[in-house]
Amino acid sequence: MTAGPATDFHSHLIPGVDDGAADLDESRAAVAAMARDGVHAAILTPHFDGSLTQAAPVAAERLAQFDAGFAALTADAAVQASGVRLMRGVELMLDIPDPDVRDERLRLNGTRFVLVEYPGLQFPLAHADYAVRALREKGWQPVVAHPERYRNVDDSLEQLLALRYAGAYFQVNAGSLLGQHGETAKRRVQAILARGWAEYASSDYHGRGLPAVAAARAALEGAGAAEQAELLFSENPARLARDESPRTVAPVGGVSRTRRPWWARLLRSR
Ligand SMILES: [Fe+2]
Repeated sequence: MTAGPATDFHSHLIPGVDDGAADLDESRAAVAAMARDGVHAAILTPHFDGSLTQAAPVAAERLAQFDAGFAALTADAAVQASGVRLMRGVELMLDIPDPDVRDERLRLNGTRFVLVEYPGLQFPLAHADYAVRALREKGWQPVVAHPERYRNVDDSLEQLLALRYAGAYFQVNAGSLLGQHGETAKRRVQAILARGWAEYASSDYHGRGLPAVAAARAALEGAGAAEQAELLFSENPARLARDESPRTVAPVGGVSRTRRPWWARLLRSR
């Protein structure tokens, strides 16, 4: 099957606003790298603390920085010529359990979808699902960024199951599939995909190195998961950008949803 163009909804490429691209030159180079990697549409998601939604003047100031940076980027001739369509969003830090995301700039391309993460790559175990439920009760759809990278998840994936029960969607990082976030994250992302728990894959590109989209897709295709790769990188993110629900991604490796992956079964056998 021929891979369709990717839509990427997690990156840090607005110049000078977070730990991603530092200035317009880096942003321009990063957009060009995305284009070379097969990305034709990207939602840019600088870090934004949910607690700022309780401090309106500070939130307004930070969002105004994003507005100015995004305007400068999209006005750039080389960026316009890149063929990558740029959209807005944030990566919302759940440093409070109930952030107010009514400002459409806090959602992905103004849709109901919200990209969220938890502080310090640690799930607040007794409460992680609270924020997911609170957002959903208000009509928003949380997408948990890179669940495979959290440090306090064990091989049972029980901590992630609680978020799935609460209605969270998952976005895994392309780089995790390639081992760029370490062996544990690689093993976790394989386990998540083996259960069919990820709806999306994105770059989380910070403008350094390569976005890893093409390489991660190739790795999935090499593992016999071309159909899943297409859904994770192309079809489902494109649907999200249109405010449409994702299609179901079949478990990678032919493992059923209820069956534990082979390594978990091995670890538990006595
Ligand atoms: Fe990120």
